[in-house]
Parts: sequence; C-alpha cells; structure tokens
Amino acid sequence: MVSKLLSNVMPTYGNKTLEFIKGDGCYLYSSQNKKYLDFASGIAVNSLGHCHPKLIETLNKQSKQLWHVSNLYKIKKQEQFAKLLCKYSFADKVFFTNSGTESIECGIKIIRGYHSYHKTKKTEIITFDGAFHGRTYGALSAQKNKKYSNGFGPMLKGFKQIEFNNEKKLLLAINKKTAGIMIEPIQGEGGIRPADLSFLKLLRKICNKNNILLFFDEVQCGFGRSGKLFSYEWAKIKPDIISVAKGIGSGFPLGACMSTNKACVAMTKGSHGSTYGGNPLAMSVGLEVLKIISNKRFLSKVDKTARYFWKNLKKLENTSNIILEVRGAGLLLGIKTKISNIDFSEQLKKNKLLNVPAADNTVRLAPPLVVSYKEIDKSIAIIKKSLKELSR
Ligand SMILES: Cc1ncc(COP(=O)(O)O)c(C=O)c1O
Repeated sequence: MVSKLLSNVMPTYGNKTLEFIKGDGCYLYSSQNKKYLDFASGIAVNSLGHCHPKLIETLNKQSKQLWHVSNLYKIKKQEQFAKLLCKYSFADKVFFTNSGTESIECGIKIIRGYHSYHKTKKTEIITFDGAFHGRTYGALSAQKNKKYSNGFGPMLKGFKQIEFNNEKKLLLAINKKTAGIMIEPIQGEGGIRPADLSFLKLLRKICNKNNILLFFDEVQCGFGRSGKLFSYEWAKIKPDIISVAKGIGSGFPLGACMSTNKACVAMTKGSHGSTYGGNPLAMSVGLEVLKIISNKRFLSKVDKTARYFWKNLKKLENTSNIILEVRGAGLLLGIKTKISNIDFSEQLKKNKLLNVPAADNTVRLAPPLVVSYKEIDKSIAIIKKSLKELSR
C-alpha cells in the first residue's frame, strides 16, 4: 500500500488500497492473498482473461526477436493484422494506435479530412448525450461532458450533441454542415445503454442520403464483447469508420481506427502518425487475440454465455427491491440500482466480485469473454448475497 503522502503518481485516479499481484483466467489475487472474481476485466480490456497461455507464448516469442521499430520501416505483422481486420469487417484500411482515445482522434481527422478533400464545407460532427470517447481534446470536445472537461477549456469547436436514441431530435439536428455522426453502439461509461438497432439503421440511411460519415466507437463494445466480433453487425449495417481498443489487445496497450477507402481519402503520407502504434510487440499480441476471438465457435460461446448471464440477472430484477433495471448487450451488462451504485459496487467488491460503476447509477459487469457458466453462477450467487445484505 502506497501512502497518499509518499506517492509521486499524479492523483488523477484517487487514493487506492486494493492491489493485485497475480491474475489467472477470470480471477485476480490480491496482495492480501484474497481471490477475486474479475467481472471488471480492467474495464472491458482483458478479453481473454488474465495470463492467457497463448498470449504469454506469443509475447515471449516476439520479445526475443524484435520489440520495436519505427513506422519508417515495413512491419510485416502490421500488414498481416490489418489484412485480417479488413477481412473480418467492412474496412479497407487500418491505422494502429495505443489506446481508445487515439483511435477516436484518428476517426475525427478522417471525417474532417474527407470533407476538406471534397471541399464540401461540412465540418460539424453529431454526438450523443451520455457518450464517452476518451480524455484527449478531440474526445473531450466530442462528448461534451463537464464531468471530464470542466476546468480544461476551451474545447474544440464543431461538435453538436443530441439525445441518444431520439430519432426526431436526430432528424432535426442534421443540416448541410453535418460532416459526421459519432456513436457508441452500446454506451459503456454512460451507463450501459445500447443504441436501438432501428436507430443505428436510421443513422446509416441519413448518412447515405446526406454525404455524412458514420463513425462507430467500438472501443468498449467491440472485439467480441457483444457476441459478434463487432457490435455494428447486430444492426446489419456497415459504418464508414470504427475505433477499437481495449479487448483487441486483451491487456496489451493497442488500438486501431478502421475505415473504408472512400472515407480515409485524406489520410495520405505524412497526414497522421504514431511512434509506437503498430509496433511488432503489439501486433504479435493483436494477431493472436484476433485469431482466437474471430473463431465462429468462440463467438457463439460468448453469445451463449452472455444470454445465460442475461437470463439470470434479469430474474433478479423481479425479486430485488434494490435493482431498478438490468440492461446492456452481450457481456457488457449494467445493473441500475435504486440505492447508490457506489454502495452496491463496494458491497460486490467486499464479496469478491470486481465490477465497475458507470453513469446513470449503474454497476457494470464486463467479465472476460472466456468466462464459464460456473463463474457466471458464482457471480450471481455473490450478487444475490450482496443484495440481501444491502436490503437488511
Ligand atoms: C467507448 C470508449 N471510447 C473511448 C475510450 C477511451 O479509451 P482509452 O482510455 O483507451 O483512451 C473509452 C474508454 O473507456 C471508451 O469506453
């Protein structure tokens, strides 16, 4: 435990006491020798759980060959990884980053660059209330959430925010300046709020009609978490751009911005770059993660376990006076509580179930995609026990 006074870490994350020293599958082990069921997954990151043997093998092997070279040189694994990502998606081109927010910045540049290239005079990007896109200025400006941006102004111009899932307000917001629409198909930080599939379909229609680029932020809900490789697949439409991160590296810092050829017309030589993005270490891990997650049998198992989890959580909705609603999709589920979500989250943690609070008074459950039925049963038992203790 690091004393508050002695810590030289900038205090942006607050004062923490719980420390983990070992991870294995869906479990984490604390410095106090306690075993926790990890349904936080590093905030929807450890898609293959902790210390997956294949990832250890890959990382070990690559670390003995080559860690890092600049993008001034050809990186074969980057080419291979981009090729596979395009094969499994709508995309033609990929830009590799190290985080979600960098993937967002790239997507915003693609939108602005496209309209600049075509001289359309369109600059405005529509975003939605409750959105979270990251902590860089583009992301902060896009999500317009004072909780994250207060005291750091001025923000960037050119973003207009409207109500999530509101078709009427969307139609009213579109004008000849609209350049892009940016949305999380399932809002994570905003309180585990899935966009209606009909809403996503309408977005596609409007974008086609008005020469607007459709940008999905799949940083949290992508890479198998919804039960499909990308969550846009559920709506049976294709975006023009997506940002991914978190689950793509299963814990290795890695992200990507994926685009159609048409949309990324302005991303020419020298227009964008990253020192680390797409380096050999990251690419070797990403390739292995994709190999495992893109397997149809793996995804079908995620879908089945997610439905099992959903069914059992939904049962609690009717039996508890603490739960207001269970919502979400795939293995990104939220429990909205009548009591403080922080109190509920802490009680679960006390009973050794890790979770992450989100906005709108919810507690988020995002287990590794490799979670078993037995581990889900265990989580349900802990949730029941916690609810009982809290209603006393
Ligand atoms: C939907 C979404 N977009 C972007 C980000 C930013 O990602 P990062 O923290 O890796 O920069 C997050 C992080 O939680 C997110 O959930």
